[in-house]
Amino acid sequence: MTARTIQNDLPEGVRFLPDYLDGVAQEKLLTDIREMVRVAPLYTPAMPRTGKKMSVTMTNCGTLGWVTDKERGYRYQTTHPVTGKPWPEMPASLERIWAELAGYPHPAEACLINFYDAEAKMGLHQDRDESDFDAPVVSISLGDSCLFRVGGTGRGGKTVSFRLNSGDAVVLSGSSRLAYHGVDKIYTDTSTLLKNGGRINLTLRRVTKPA
Ligand code: SIN
Ligand code: FE2
Repeated sequence: MTARTIQNDLPEGVRFLPDYLDGVAQEKLLTDIREMVRVAPLYTPAMPRTGKKMSVTMTNCGTLGWVTDKERGYRYQTTHPVTGKPWPEMPASLERIWAELAGYPHPAEACLINFYDAEAKMGLHQDRDESDFDAPVVSISLGDSCLFRVGGTGRGGKTVSFRLNSGDAVVLSGSSRLAYHGVDKIYTDTSTLLKNGGRINLTLRRVTKPA
């Protein structure tokens, strides 16, 4: 399927931008991510209540970061749960992407950085821990490709699956801001961006309602 035919099949409010970042922009962004991960290392989050470990590792940048653990569940907080330090600042590269894609007059507050190894997946879920749903969710893929799935706002509804490659962007906005989405599979050895393979997903979000 070409990008155009996929876009036609997507729920209203889901925007797919294949090749949004060219190779040079991907390398630059990766340099920023390496610096952030040096300061705020990737850690393994756990699901609420069960404490089951997620298959992705995570970190964040921005004034707020999304975290989850057994005791306190899904939430945003200002500090890294392992180091206790504030999250690194949002780099200009990500501020620019938000300004260009979000169509929203206030800055993003959080960027969740997910790392997927060959076996990692992300079950279908909604991004709903924010108090402002007027702002979209902006997502950037880097490294190995994945099979991404998006549906409607109800659990168990019809979903559409398509491949996300390095440099692709997806925006969930309007009636799809709360669309269920997830990652079913990583396609290994599909990108040379990350020396040791794997996939990085960046999710930019506004968390609080602007005053
Ligand atoms: C997420 O929904 O947190 C990640 C989506 C993705 O990896 O593309
Ligand atoms: Fe999500």
